[in-house]
Amino acid sequence: MKYQTVKGTHDILPDEVSRWRTVEEVVRRMMAAYHYGEIRTPVFEHTELFSRSIGQDTDIVGKEMYTFEDAGGRSLTLSPEGTAPVVRSYIEHGLGAKSPQVKLFYIAPMFRQENPQKGRFRQFHQFGMEALGPADAAQDVEIIALAMGIYRRLGLAGLSLRLNSVGCRVCRPGYRDVLRSFLEERGDRLCHDCRQRTQNNPLRVLDCKREECREQTRDAPLMSDHLCDECDRHFSRVRELLEQLELPYDLDGRLVRGLDYYTRTAFEVISGQLGAQDALGGGGRYDDLVEMLGGPSTPAVGFAAGMERLLLVLAQKDLVRPEPDTVDLFAVLLGARARDAGLKLLEQLRRRGIRAETDFLDRSMKAQMRAANRLAASYTVIIGEQELSKERLILKNMSEGQQEEMDLDEAVEKICRAMGSAAPKGEPSAGK
Ligand code: HAM
Repeated sequence: MKYQTVKGTHDILPDEVSRWRTVEEVVRRMMAAYHYGEIRTPVFEHTELFSRSIGQDTDIVGKEMYTFEDAGGRSLTLSPEGTAPVVRSYIEHGLGAKSPQVKLFYIAPMFRQENPQKGRFRQFHQFGMEALGPADAAQDVEIIALAMGIYRRLGLAGLSLRLNSVGCRVCRPGYRDVLRSFLEERGDRLCHDCRQRTQNNPLRVLDCKREECREQTRDAPLMSDHLCDECDRHFSRVRELLEQLELPYDLDGRLVRGLDYYTRTAFEVISGQLGAQDALGGGGRYDDLVEMLGGPSTPAVGFAAGMERLLLVLAQKDLVRPEPDTVDLFAVLLGARARDAGLKLLEQLRRRGIRAETDFLDRSMKAQMRAANRLAASYTVIIGEQELSKERLILKNMSEGQQEEMDLDEAVEKICRAMGSAAPKGEPSAGK
């Protein structure tokens, strides 16, 4: 058998990882600027956490979750999204009692058994943030500004922000009835799935990608025309504040999102670069979720972004390049005794924070010098039989070409001085 990655999953090799790290560093810097603290929740949770919060009639819960039973007979599920685990953790640790405003972010793998295609995987990664406590529209806009700010920092322009309000438990039931009646009149012209959705979850019909359903719902009643006064006021303030921050948006009355916990503000960030899977990220308010999962009534709003899709767009635009694979110093070691001496020397240099490499492949001088050049080493150390017999080594400055012979026991200090290493003794400097 030839082992390969499981369908819909992918390896991220070192070249690619350096791109991921660049994105993650921007995400972390921006989260710090907006004062969001990092949270790490387990990769799997009790299945019911997701089925209750995301909703029984959604595609995620209905057909996409990786659910399994453990030896204790518990039904567990690999996280398909990050909001429900964050809310679970918020309740479990009483975070709301410690602070009236809790702002958290995560960068984590998620799992959904979807049909893989460009920008759609079965294991993918999201960065996301959740603000629990404030009901004010300013909090919605802070989250949107943070999301758009991250994309802007990474050099992405021309993204569109789609915005809608999906109402609340006061106004949505009435709208749902109006929409259901509208859909029932067109029942036989809708696809099989949408006929079922008409009864269970009529809002989701607006999200159907089939042309026949889009045609039939072209003039469907929209939530935005059925908002209660409070939702209407909230939505107006969100738009006003977005304008104040000069964040352009497109109103999209059909935007319903694929998860049931949303109330009021719902939004998505769309890229023209991605084809069918064009949502770079999405989010919205979920004012009822904390209470629904057994916590105290707490308004909240959040956003999550697909990292693979983001990296795809960045690569297409050549915006994030892999970091070059380099070292400060390469040790050319000729023969077994040289390797022993070299290993000790390298260990001392690395402890001082110098990025040093060699190879233990017993290759020719020429091959080892080629490896040093490939890694753009600023210095090479050369240790051969001849040098060893005198307890000496050669240090070569690769850019200037000059070389110097020195005693082995003085080499660490001399090399560090030559390289201007500021790292304190015994402590490698941070970074790679
Ligand atoms: P979502 O819209 O389901 O929202 O996912 C957010 C983003 O994750 C999508 O816009 C997309 O970029 C990415 N994504 C989703 N599924 C896949 C997949 N199969 N392959 C690759 N990327 C994917 C949520 O997950 C909510 N928890 C967002 C949120 C946070 N709402 C409030 N707070």
